[in-house]
Amino acid sequence: MNKKIKLYAISWQFILGLILGILGTFIEVLIPLIVRQFIDGKTHISAHINFRLAAVIVLTIIFSAIISAFCQYLISVAGNLKIAEVRMEIEQKLLTLPMSFFTNQKSGQLSSHLINDAEVVQDFMTSSIPATINSLIAVLGSFIVLFHLDWQLTVFIVLSFSLIILIAYPIGKISEKLSLTTQNKLSELSGQSTENIYNIRSIKLNNAYRPVWLNFKQVVVELFKVSNKTDCIFSIVGPIQTVFTLGIILLIIIYGGIRVQQASLSIGTLVSFLIYLFQVIEPINMLGNFYTSYKQAKGATWELNKILNTPGEKNVYQVNSQILFAKNSCLTLKNASFSYQKEPVLQNISLSFNSGQKIAIVGPSGAGKTTIINLLTRLYELNEGQLLLNSVSATNYDLNTWRNLFAVVTQENTIISGSIYLNLTFGLTAIPEESDIWAALDKANLLEDVQKMPNGLQTLVGEQGIGLSGGQRQRLQIARAYLRQANFLILDEATSNLDPDSEKIITNTLNELLANHQTTLIVIAHRLSTIVDSDKIYFLDNHQITGSGTHQELMQLVPKYKQFVNEEILAVEK
Ligand SMILES: Nc1ncnc2c1ncn2[C@@H]1O[C@H](COP(=O)(O)OP(=O)(O)O)[C@@H](O)[C@H]1O
Ligand SMILES: [Mg+2]
Repeated sequence: MNKKIKLYAISWQFILGLILGILGTFIEVLIPLIVRQFIDGKTHISAHINFRLAAVIVLTIIFSAIISAFCQYLISVAGNLKIAEVRMEIEQKLLTLPMSFFTNQKSGQLSSHLINDAEVVQDFMTSSIPATINSLIAVLGSFIVLFHLDWQLTVFIVLSFSLIILIAYPIGKISEKLSLTTQNKLSELSGQSTENIYNIRSIKLNNAYRPVWLNFKQVVVELFKVSNKTDCIFSIVGPIQTVFTLGIILLIIIYGGIRVQQASLSIGTLVSFLIYLFQVIEPINMLGNFYTSYKQAKGATWELNKILNTPGEKNVYQVNSQILFAKNSCLTLKNASFSYQKEPVLQNISLSFNSGQKIAIVGPSGAGKTTIINLLTRLYELNEGQLLLNSVSATNYDLNTWRNLFAVVTQENTIISGSIYLNLTFGLTAIPEESDIWAALDKANLLEDVQKMPNGLQTLVGEQGIGLSGGQRQRLQIARAYLRQANFLILDEATSNLDPDSEKIITNTLNELLANHQTTLIVIAHRLSTIVDSDKIYFLDNHQITGSGTHQELMQLVPKYKQFVNEEILAVEK
């Protein structure tokens, strides 16, 4: 499954462009011949200028110019189309990559590859390829004429110019490496810059301006050095090519001179040879540069190819997902073990969540509570054990449908830039009635806040919900979760920052949901009031479930739980 971004695109635009290019060059090569006839004609009938032929020449020149414009345009369009496809493919891929991929990457770095690397490829497809094709056709056309004039001399020229490949090859190799480094440095730069903007509040509050700035400066300097190396190579290539070409011309003059002395070549033919040769020097150099550009573009696709070849989230579709939404469902983690890297986070744990129940997961910070949620929602895959819904393995269900089972409110900020409305309906396939939206806001104790906002539901909240207070953000996430009407509502320390009034209202809402048997409630909380009435509490300690039952049962039977409640919960609440 080794996917690679192709550096060319064969489409109708490309083929039509190519045909026009050949036609245009054909006409261009013909022009000198028509001119010759024009001049020859004049010397024979010296009486007057042949205006008709002159008009034909002018029209032909204009026609060939129009054709070459179309050729250039069409081939560029083919390249633009291809690069649009590549960008869409990469973004689509990124959106389906597993969470583990993103923990090792800075978001700005990834977007830099999508934008800057793709641009190098785009440049190659829309500039290098059309220019090279035009050059190739021009060189071929001219050589056909040259061959016609004197084949020995032509063979001599072709052999000499083939030597250009000898220079192009090593330079191409270096270019590929330099291009890869450049793109990586560029992505580092973008990663840092994005991160700095993201962390601006923290940078200011911690007075971290200087180290952040120095880090950035270092990457800029590194990028500067790589860019200089690349430009140095490109600066050397031009003069080398010129010296080389001049040398070849000198050789041809010498060889041609000998042939003229031997009377096997006329001076006229040698002169016209040299004229044609000067015409094709630039296209020939262009061909020499092609390999370098190609290697450069190839270097730029390196990271993009890596992204394309990273395995996406596993998603099979074997079970009719309708049964997912059966009323009485039981979600189970069975003998599950998991680690993010090497260190085990969860060892052989088993939990089950039944419809209409309120189940709490309690344990010290870092015990792995959020990790359990990550596994239930299949953000990460189990290393060992099973995740089951009604005794059917989760891996048999379509991933998107599976995630529709859950509404998760986390302690993290998941507010997106846009309106309150956009945040509430984020990801919903069926757009709710406006009355339902207001009802959800009411249930989350956010109704009054939104009513007071200048544009109501259409009020913009800025990136990360910067225009909202911490409590408002959390209540907005709760309203969003409520609107999802999912089978499992998960609150991961979601109410810990709320004022007592808000918490009361939200607790009422949750109890209402439970009473209607609509939802299974999974709560992770550090407040006794939130967990004490749970149908079942799982106590997670030291990577394992060390006790389960109601609050009373655990207080009696599990000394560690009792200790945890007394020291971590009650002591803090006092
Ligand atoms: N994405 C991650 N990559 C590596 N380690 C992680 C990641 N997320 C959490 N951890 C580690 O896993 C352990 C459990 O974390 P977590 O489930 O968030 O704990 P809790 O929610 O109980 O506070 C911690 O030691 C934490 O450092
Ligand atoms: Mg957590």
